[in-house]
Amino acid sequence: MMELSKSTRNGIDVPLVGFGTYQLSVDQAEFCVKEALKAGFRHIDSAEGYNNEEGTGKGIMAAGVSRDAIFVTTKLFPGYKQWGAPGKTYEQTIETLKNQLKHLRLDYVDLYLIHAPLSELRLEQWNALVELKKSGLTRHIGVSNYNEERLKEISDAGLAKPEANQIEFHPICAQVDLTRYMKENSIAPIAYSSLAPLSTWRAEEGQGGEVLAEIKEECQLVTHEIAAKLKVSEAKLLLRWGLQHGYCVLTKSSKPERIRENLNLFDFEIPDSDMKRLNRLNQNQAIAWAANGLNPMEVAPPLK
Ligand SMILES: NC(=O)c1ccc[n+]([C@@H]2O[C@H](COP(=O)([O-])OP(=O)(O)OC[C@H]3O[C@@H](n4cnc5c(N)ncnc54)[C@H](OP(=O)(O)O)[C@@H]3O)[C@@H](O)[C@H]2O)c1
Repeated sequence: MMELSKSTRNGIDVPLVGFGTYQLSVDQAEFCVKEALKAGFRHIDSAEGYNNEEGTGKGIMAAGVSRDAIFVTTKLFPGYKQWGAPGKTYEQTIETLKNQLKHLRLDYVDLYLIHAPLSELRLEQWNALVELKKSGLTRHIGVSNYNEERLKEISDAGLAKPEANQIEFHPICAQVDLTRYMKENSIAPIAYSSLAPLSTWRAEEGQGGEVLAEIKEECQLVTHEIAAKLKVSEAKLLLRWGLQHGYCVLTKSSKPERIRENLNLFDFEIPDSDMKRLNRLNQNQAIAWAANGLNPMEVAPPLK
């Protein structure tokens, strides 16, 4: 395994551990993003769909860290007909990032992603991302929740390849084939919801963590046992598992002590035998969007 440290970067020069902002209110985002940057996070993950970019922007400003030292990702909500939101056109995609930058109080983001392949206009949206990179409003472009078939649509259309794909990744949802394909094609893997197997994941009223809770039992037993043996928290174990697979990991918490804990992943290593035990827990089961009633990797409408 390659040596991992706080300064390790992956293919697009992104810090390995990122702070996620889903399910934070505007005020919480401001407070937590500032806490995360103060704790040493240098990678922030945002999205139009989180409705809190204003807070994230204020938090970034308040932390006073130089812009060059931070990697900021945000995402386009592409539209989804089933939710009454028409697909965004090329022009609307360009305008969307410009508005997001105002909320974030930034001149550019480091990575702009299509949040999920939920629209039949996704190739048109991808063309807009290519243009946004050319114009310097984002340094890198990528996708999220794209399976192999969706990634191939882009290459089949002869368009520039996504530089990153942000996907759900934890022992219950290990995406083995997709991961291999991304590696072969130099698409940087960024993992979300690494903590989904835990009973504390989205545990507050209305956060939806109870959906599919029954499939997590075995993973929780194994995680508990290995974490106790290595004398680390279960959260750290799951995040480190993603790092040792070569992923960037994103992690969200509304609590300062957990924010600090989740960044501190470089003082231990998971032995091979325990990595293999965790790998065997795979059920190919996505959990993160389940409370919304869909798996974003499986609902792409035919291309227009
Ligand atoms: N592209 C996509 O479709 C997509 C989908 C999902 C997520 N994401 C991104 O990935 C980020 C991370 O995913 P996620 O929000 O599902 O978060 P996560 O980091 O996997 O888990 C967060 C949940 O775990 C709890 N938690 C955090 N640290 C903990 C610790 N040390 N010990 C015990 N419990 C802990 C949090 O509770 P407290 O807040 O109460 O601490 C929260 O309920 C998101 O915020 C978002 O930026 C992207």
